[in-house]
Amino acid sequence: MAEDKNRAQFATRLGIIATTVGSAVGLGNIWRFPYEAGNNGGGAFLLCYILCIIMLGIPVLCAEFAIGRSTQSNIFGAFRAIKTSGKWHWIGYIGIIASIMILSFYSVVAGWTMEYLYQSIIGGLNYSNSDCFHSHFVSFSSSNWRPIMWTIIFLLCNYIIVVRGVKKGIEKMSNIMMPALFVLLIIFCINSLMMPKAGEGLAFLFNPDFSKITPKVVISALGQAFFSLSLGLGTMMTYGSYFSKGTRIVRSATITASLDTLVAILAGLIIFPAVFSFGMSPVQGPALVFEVLPSIFTQMPGGQLWSILFFFLLFLASLTSTISMSEVSIAFFTEEKNMTRTKASALNLIIALCGGVLSALSFGYFSDKSVFGLCSLDFFTFFDFTSSNILLPLGGMFISFFAGWILDRSRLKDTLTNEGKIGVKTFPLLVICLKYVAPICIVLIFLLGMGLF
Ligand code: TRP
Repeated sequence: MAEDKNRAQFATRLGIIATTVGSAVGLGNIWRFPYEAGNNGGGAFLLCYILCIIMLGIPVLCAEFAIGRSTQSNIFGAFRAIKTSGKWHWIGYIGIIASIMILSFYSVVAGWTMEYLYQSIIGGLNYSNSDCFHSHFVSFSSSNWRPIMWTIIFLLCNYIIVVRGVKKGIEKMSNIMMPALFVLLIIFCINSLMMPKAGEGLAFLFNPDFSKITPKVVISALGQAFFSLSLGLGTMMTYGSYFSKGTRIVRSATITASLDTLVAILAGLIIFPAVFSFGMSPVQGPALVFEVLPSIFTQMPGGQLWSILFFFLLFLASLTSTISMSEVSIAFFTEEKNMTRTKASALNLIIALCGGVLSALSFGYFSDKSVFGLCSLDFFTFFDFTSSNILLPLGGMFISFFAGWILDRSRLKDTLTNEGKIGVKTFPLLVICLKYVAPICIVLIFLLGMGLF
């Protein structure tokens, strides 16, 4: 196992936050959160989601950062470095399968973003009626070659960046892009809140109807929390290994989780007031944001410019996320299988391309075909559901169990307190979460989902 003794480190404190937030914030917040909330009853979903972030997400994020920094290694090397016996590094395999599945369907949606950027530039989204946006999305996503073309272009962009292993570049880009995206979201949010039926949208998102909390809602909220924080497959462990000795792990995890959740809520505050004002349905699945946002832009003064800016930033935000998930399999191929970075990146690209094409065709040619006839889901939904709702929470459960039960307590404490230089008052609470709360809750939610209660 060739371990990199001179691992690059993030240059500044802002850089650390911008880069971890860069991995966390992406389509998960702006595309996936609103549609999952829309499908799962709005307020009921938001409530479960926030509970999952606080009770499970932040502790597991701390565990990933701590394991990564204390071992200076990727997910395989990290588990081996701490526990030479046993099969803990197998968690890494869950991570690789999940990361490639996510990359496959994520690139398709990132490709849609590129198409919408292109359409905004050529002025192709100038409809006056929101039904037209629906037909536009359906005819685009179900066509056979355009979504595939954009998926390929997106994966090539991702390849060009990961093959060079540019950490400094990512840090610089995130430093500018994340704040810019944030400002843009605030502007759109104010605009949506001034719409005629904004109140109905707010009530939908913030008034939980407790009768709507079903096992499906809880599982979706759990999956969304892990997906949005990039947890469960070792991404944040890798980023933790780039942290410097002085980085405060618990604080960084809390800031990352708060900003990530804030962006998701902002996205909800943009989408739902508009959904109700335009008389649309919140239950539209993956199409939701791609139908609502362009409708919002046509109603704003200077809409075309906003639209171009937004889809461009969303494209960059998707890229910073896919770079972080690609790093998991690339680290595996280079550090465990001794491949060169070029070969590893190419292999990652080829596998993701295959998955990407299957996912892209799920809206057209393959829309009525299930995964090799094995289940009733199309490829896109299968990749999304299996990775987000099953593999990520499973990985997170093992990671928290490992940090709580296997990892030496004094090592965990030293890492979290920077060798005793800083006080971490929440340490005992964190240990309880890692030892008991996170593993037990995740198992219970799985059992609940399998209908065992
Ligand atoms: N969190 C990212 C988003 O919200 C997606 C992502 C990046 C991810 N890396 C990950 C999800 C690792 C799960 C695991 O868009």
